[in-house]
Amino acid sequence: MKREVKSFIHARSRTAKKDSETFKEFENKLFFSLKEIKNFDHLFSLNKTNILEIGFGDGKNILHQAINNPEKNFYGLEVYQNGIASTLRQIKLHNLNNIFLIYGDARDFLNKLKKPILDYIFILFPDPWPKKKHWKRRLINKDFLFQAKNSLKNKGQIIIRTDWEDYDKDLAKAFKTYEVTQNYNLLGSLKPLKTKYENKAAQEGRELFTYISDLEN
Ligand SMILES: C[S@@+](CC[C@H](N)C(=O)[O-])C[C@H]1O[C@@H](n2cnc3c(N)ncnc32)[C@H](O)[C@@H]1O
Repeated sequence: MKREVKSFIHARSRTAKKDSETFKEFENKLFFSLKEIKNFDHLFSLNKTNILEIGFGDGKNILHQAINNPEKNFYGLEVYQNGIASTLRQIKLHNLNNIFLIYGDARDFLNKLKKPILDYIFILFPDPWPKKKHWKRRLINKDFLFQAKNSLKNKGQIIIRTDWEDYDKDLAKAFKTYEVTQNYNLLGSLKPLKTKYENKAAQEGRELFTYISDLEN
């Protein structure tokens, strides 16, 4: 298990020494590399509310949620190593024990999970891949929602927000068979913070599109 994480650390020669030390400090405690996880039983508590944020970026939202909802468990999935390392340092600073970070691709994670164990999945401002020739790289489509649905508990919800109008068109197609609301206030204490990308969209005057659904039909 240790070997996998080491090779991931050394694979990026520009990863700061500080980040490498952070990964070593938290590996297999608060931080996991998806490739190494054989099963998820020890990570998720069946009797707790389990919340996944895919692509948590700088960690601002997931940290805020974990601090304000100490009785719930938060799982952050990212492929951006600096974001993971800086979020781990914030977890230590705030002495949090209800947040776990996973390095890996969202599709691989959902494939591996195979269990309806999540209460909420948040995806805030997924990479937009603005060029038409790259649209196929976009994370969210009908197949992805089907995968997500299989990992959600009964009445579990997925929450997606984008500021890209043509990504919104893809989302509208993907959600076509599901009932959707845009009302963030229904999320209560789980209402997301304004993230870096939400603030950027506001500065540049882009409209925001929100999808909240339990993926039941
Ligand atoms: C545009 S940023 C948004 C970050 C953050 N949610 C925010 O609103 O500030 C998209 C994030 O998703 C991550 N990401 C992209 N594809 C991913 C994937 N397949 N699995 C996990 N994370 C992914 C990227 O590394 C990046 O940090």
